[in-house]
Amino acid sequence: MRNFLSLRNLSRGVIEELLEHARHLKRNPHSLDLLNKVVGLVFMNPSLRTLASMQAGISQLGGSSFVIQPGQNSWNLEFEDGAVMDGITVEHVKEAIPVLGKYCDILGIRSFALQHNLAEDLEDRRMGVMAELSPVPFVNLESASDHPCQALADWLTIDECGIGRSEKFVLSWAFHPKPLPFAVPRAALSMAAQRGMEIVIHGPQGYELPDQMMSELQSFGARSVQFETDRRKALNGARVLYCKSWVQHRLYGDPEKEMNARSALRENWCVREKWFEDYAPHAKFMHCLPVRRNVKVEDRVLDNDRSIVIQQSENRLHVQKAVLARLAQEVKA
Ligand code: CP
Repeated sequence: MRNFLSLRNLSRGVIEELLEHARHLKRNPHSLDLLNKVVGLVFMNPSLRTLASMQAGISQLGGSSFVIQPGQNSWNLEFEDGAVMDGITVEHVKEAIPVLGKYCDILGIRSFALQHNLAEDLEDRRMGVMAELSPVPFVNLESASDHPCQALADWLTIDECGIGRSEKFVLSWAFHPKPLPFAVPRAALSMAAQRGMEIVIHGPQGYELPDQMMSELQSFGARSVQFETDRRKALNGARVLYCKSWVQHRLYGDPEKEMNARSALRENWCVREKWFEDYAPHAKFMHCLPVRRNVKVEDRVLDNDRSIVIQQSENRLHVQKAVLARLAQEVKA
């Protein structure tokens, strides 16, 4: 494994090995897997969990790290070929990434979707370009349409809850004031599909997922995949309700129109404890965090034992350490 860009291009065997090592590291947090190694971390967007868990994990593995935040503690980066850089961008990724690769042994980058062009974002073009430019092993810390560190942590968390590989996984849309990209929904759904789960995507009309995202799930091994607007049908028998908001893909690139379309959905699409009481009493509640309380999810859900959001966040630390330890082997090889 030269790069960790997505769970979607990893074999089941590699995923199982990473999970096994993460379980080991959860029991035995300290090792020397990154002794004398430096991990470069580039955050184009804000973070609490990813930044803190990466730095803590690197330290627990005996390594060290530096953090670059373009536009804050560093130059704004340019991505376009042939750009005339007379605006806010000061440095091109064609220089920045190879230079950073001279200072570190592994590079991790977060770069969210621009939400201008759906096809480009689903292709994850920017992350792909940066990975190709990187002279050292590379970790995707959330890109335009993937969040593999979150997906691997979620896989571990679902396993820890004793939820079977073929049980029912519901990804529910929830209201958020702004249109959000497909990174976490795609990562969570791919993870559930690779586990072989029965997948239901629950959302209001208009929030169906792009065809590309739906069709790939079957090929990853999902037991079944469907979009369902009816809450009773969607939640009935669910073992996981994973909540996330996403943009209406037919209005991709038009945030004003999208926000007008979603404004009427606020009341009926805040996840409530009653959803579980009425339809899914045995379901765990999952969310990648951060979450807007009482907008996207009501307090009673987040403060209930069914919520495993803290466990998901904790597991980010353990799985990322397993990924870094494996990439460090690449550095040695
Ligand atoms: N879930 C997640 O990636 O959290 P942060 O955005 O805080 O890193």
